[in-house]
Amino acid sequence: MAIIIDGKAVAAKVNEDVKAGVAALKQKGVSVGLTVILAGNDPASEVYVNNKHRACTDLGIKSEIIRYPADVGGAVLEAKIKELNADASVSGILVQLPLPKGLDERRILELIDPAKDVDCFAAKNVGMLALGAPKLLPCTPAGIIELIKSTGQPIAGKRAVIVGRSNIVGKPMFHLLLQADATVMVCHTKTVNLAEITRTADILVIAAGRPGLITGDMVKPGALVLDAGINRVDGKLYGDADFDSVSDVAGYITPVPGGVGPMTIAMLMRNTLTAACAASDN
Ligand code: GUN
Repeated sequence: MAIIIDGKAVAAKVNEDVKAGVAALKQKGVSVGLTVILAGNDPASEVYVNNKHRACTDLGIKSEIIRYPADVGGAVLEAKIKELNADASVSGILVQLPLPKGLDERRILELIDPAKDVDCFAAKNVGMLALGAPKLLPCTPAGIIELIKSTGQPIAGKRAVIVGRSNIVGKPMFHLLLQADATVMVCHTKTVNLAEITRTADILVIAAGRPGLITGDMVKPGALVLDAGINRVDGKLYGDADFDSVSDVAGYITPVPGGVGPMTIAMLMRNTLTAACAASDN
């Protein structure tokens, strides 16, 4: 039976450090602020944005949510992002995805000053990550690295398999695991014989957005399984792993909810503090 990795507990420790860092900056007269832009009324985005707001409030980070209707024009968002780039009280800017149809997501994300890009979505930050010299870390992948470290299990020399190649999780996860000296493979919807590959993984990261995709027979005995899936089925949350069968085989597993999710937000808070520290040093 796998050991369950308690994401809430690991996140609480990170949050404690961030809270202390925010308080220390405040003493120096530097405020730490996160502004979230939310366009449209995607119900999942509403939940995520409210969770981020609550986390900021708990840690002493000034939080602002700017809401727009789904038919907002790109020019309105552009003007607002430029205003926030120039506002010294805003340490981090986050545009919640997905954006409503008709908006050019890539163009809008590139408007954010890379020094305030706390999602690590801008091309410059993705490039720095690929070069092994990131300034801000991609939140979900960085959270997964912290969860692996919390087990005391090594990453160097291990075979890591990632299922999913999204820009938010799969691709940046590849870079962080490689940076930590794992041997990494990325699988996706066109991968042939997925189970054959996942069974070779000492570290298995799942971010495919398909509930129950990974079953126990696809997992190496003793493996670390990190499940970044958030799938809502009949109002209940499920990961991409079939929890019961996978936890019979794995050595460690993250639950959904309470695994990767709390760490994504903790890493966002840490990035916001990092951005504020860097800005105050300039
Ligand atoms: N939508 C789903 N996950 C994320 C995330 O990590 N950042 C942003 N900005 N939008 C998201």
